[in-house]
Amino acid sequence: MESLRETRRLLEQERANDARRALLLTGLRLGDRALDAGCGPGGITETMADVVGPEGHVTGVELNPERVAEASLRCQRRPNLSFLQADIRGMGLADATFDYSWSQFVFEYLPERLPALAELARVTRPGGKVVVSEIDGLGFQNWPFPERLREGTQRIVDALATKGFDLFAGRKLFTEFRQVGLRDIQVHLLPFYMVAGAADDRLLMDWEVRFAALEAVAAPFFGGLDSYRAYCREYLRMLADPDGLKYAVLLVTEGTKP
Ligand SMILES: C[S@@+](CC[C@H](N)C(=O)[O-])C[C@H]1O[C@@H](n2cnc3c(N)ncnc32)[C@H](O)[C@@H]1O
Repeated sequence: MESLRETRRLLEQERANDARRALLLTGLRLGDRALDAGCGPGGITETMADVVGPEGHVTGVELNPERVAEASLRCQRRPNLSFLQADIRGMGLADATFDYSWSQFVFEYLPERLPALAELARVTRPGGKVVVSEIDGLGFQNWPFPERLREGTQRIVDALATKGFDLFAGRKLFTEFRQVGLRDIQVHLLPFYMVAGAADDRLLMDWEVRFAALEAVAAPFFGGLDSYRAYCREYLRMLADPDGLKYAVLLVTEGTKP
């Protein structure tokens, strides 16, 4: 999912999702030293830098060097923001570096989430916050939702699982926060999108790009590209239906480092 279109989709998604609301809700404050783990093109990292202000600092950590280069270039005039190319499972940063450590839409990619969560906790100071925002069952909450579309969506879940991607990561994080010893854990249920009626062009494009990026992994689970693409077209028609309701949720889990 590394194309230019995917980068644009992520930046658009960041704008549309109102990440600021989740950041403020979970305690990001003026003056904080904050981490954005798996920052992608850095849209949310910028929002975090606005919240912490000139007395604070945000570090965006990202595995993909192209994304790091792109984000660094775009934000080069912002002194309270820096980017680091690293794996969030081992960032090479000192213990207790951050007041607030955030990660969104990254844990869903990790075959094992506990080592990454432990690493986020390690780099957070005692009393600081660890926050992970994740999807949960993205794509299933629609009505009308014909059975063949539900089955097709399940095939995508099965295909992604073979690559270690978990579409239901959101609901599992509360238990995992407890397993790594975080305290005062709370889970916030926030809207990812809510469409009563026809989806707008932005949401349709979002799904088109997502479907295109999944082609190689998903098509074998549909018996080939043609039937996968037929499923995608029908799904997009369902999203565009003015008589239908479609929504998706984010589960934002926060915990305090003891
Ligand atoms: C879907 S994007 C989310 C970007 C951003 N957090 C957001 O909310 O828009 C996932 C990003 O996580 C990065 N990523 C995946 N696994 C990672 C890892 N182990 N360490 C660091 N970054 C990782 C990917 O390269 C990608 O840029």
